[in-house]
Amino acid sequence: MERTKSYWLESTSTTNYPVLDKDISVDVAVIGGGLAGITTAWLLKQEGLGVVVLEADRICQGTTGHSTAKISSQHDLIYAWLDKEFGRERAKQYADANETAVKTMADIVKSQKIDCDFQWQPAYVYTEQDKYVEEIQKEAKIAGALGIGAEYIQDPGLPFAVKGALRFDNQAQFHPRKYVLALAQAIPGEGCHIYENTKVVGIEEGKINTISLDSGKKIRADRVVLATHFPIHDGLGFYFARMYSERSYILACRVEGDLPEGMFITAESPGRSLRTQTSKDEKLLLVGGEHHKTGAGQEGPHYQTLSDFAQANFSVTDIPYRWSAQDYTTLDKIPYIGNVRKGINNMFVATGFRKWGISTSTVAGMVIRDLILWGSSPWQEVFSPQRGLSLKSAGKLISINADVAKELVLGKLAGTQEGDIPPGEAKVISGEGTKIGAYRDDKGELHAVDITCTHFGCELKWNSAEKTWDCPCHGSRFSIEGDIVDGPALKPLRSFPGEGDHDIDPDII
Ligand SMILES: Cc1cc2nc3c(=O)[nH]c(=O)nc-3n(C[C@H](O)[C@H](O)[C@H](O)COP(=O)(O)OP(=O)(O)OC[C@H]3O[C@@H](n4cnc5c(N)ncnc54)[C@H](O)[C@@H]3O)c2cc1C
Ligand code: FES
Repeated sequence: MERTKSYWLESTSTTNYPVLDKDISVDVAVIGGGLAGITTAWLLKQEGLGVVVLEADRICQGTTGHSTAKISSQHDLIYAWLDKEFGRERAKQYADANETAVKTMADIVKSQKIDCDFQWQPAYVYTEQDKYVEEIQKEAKIAGALGIGAEYIQDPGLPFAVKGALRFDNQAQFHPRKYVLALAQAIPGEGCHIYENTKVVGIEEGKINTISLDSGKKIRADRVVLATHFPIHDGLGFYFARMYSERSYILACRVEGDLPEGMFITAESPGRSLRTQTSKDEKLLLVGGEHHKTGAGQEGPHYQTLSDFAQANFSVTDIPYRWSAQDYTTLDKIPYIGNVRKGINNMFVATGFRKWGISTSTVAGMVIRDLILWGSSPWQEVFSPQRGLSLKSAGKLISINADVAKELVLGKLAGTQEGDIPPGEAKVISGEGTKIGAYRDDKGELHAVDITCTHFGCELKWNSAEKTWDCPCHGSRFSIEGDIVDGPALKPLRSFPGEGDHDIDPDII
């Protein structure tokens, strides 16, 4: 199967910020150069703070570079749930924060003259099943009561029959990398910096926090923002036990004829997400969906299913790009944005965006800016990582961690596969007292790694579409050489022959 590639990455050039090669002291260290990190750093620089962004790789090549990139306060069906579970006040905080984020992003695009294919679009949740109609009508009513321009409609203008839809006005879409790269350009200068290929491997908490890099260099920071998608420092916040990771798939299609006006997502599973992407060079229809827990199941067929859906409903002429990515969901569906734990006022976290992190990364930037500058935010309560668990959430906590325990045990007991490995395929074999994942590339070369996850020791699963080893427990992913593709793991896999170990550093989980 052809290599996967994100349109957002293919249509923009790679950045080239320097590596941090000395010890420094800063006001604020933002770890992670995705949308959450760059937005936070940019907002803090506007307030005159000295900020450095520390990015392990190149900025905006992680989840933000693999998003569908709808800028919306419509996060599937969420408002009726928030209203019921947490009450009107918190539901309103969530709505206000995300509506403000959409407007803030539009203002930034305008004031900074960012050319990022930004387009105002209505956002729709639609259904093809009678049983969801009532739910959608209820969502429209509650979203309207919370101040969102929301309406129940019969026909959202798709080329196939639907039973009904929820429409939010004044939403938008954009090219996420064009936006983030432009914001990033404005960060260096006046005591602010972006450093790439600068990986954080440890943080020592204190009045002044000490950040360690893989190069051995140290950063002393008054405040730290953990914007690494999954927090690389747990700080006894137990984030690894309070979130799970799900992958989703996207096709970018060239289509003959008119494209639908708006951004769409299904109320039901299997999820289908649609938006257009128009620039001066390209006109594409993005078709997304087929989510599942990371490390569960074969990835290849999901692209085929999405392709079948696209071909059945649109005149697709070509599918030049396809990619997949993952995001984290918290126990109660609301992101964790705020102090990393109770009583720590100089370390902040932004995570658990549930595939709606375009608007909520901007919310994160605003909340963290306000907490740093003024010690409070009008939306801090609903996003607080220290909020209590509802009974339903507590049940989910038990079930997620039971799954992790099961994966830990079953992975070790599962039978191994013997025999030769054809090119392009991988097998799990026993050896050196552990399980070894071996992949043979198209040139016939074998790449073997210890498939014990370096985070907490779960058994990794082969991802045939992305050619990676994925962890079903907390979503870490590794290349065929054992390098980290996605966190929370901070150490690469042991490779054969090769160096390294897989001890768990108790300070960094
Ligand atoms: C398939 C898919 C579709 C989506 N579609 C939408 C959508 O339409 N609308 C929407 O609102 N949301 C959407 N989302 C969600 C949204 O894209 C993400 O929530 C958001 O991009 C996350 O941004 P981030 O900055 O937290 O993470 P990232 O963009 O992943 O950035 C984190 C950065 O931290 C760096 N990092 C990690 N570890 C370290 C370390 N140790 N040291 C230094 N740096 C480190 C990484 O290299 C990375 O660059 C989607 C998500 C997926 C998976
Ligand atoms: S990501 Fe936690 S054990 Fe693998």
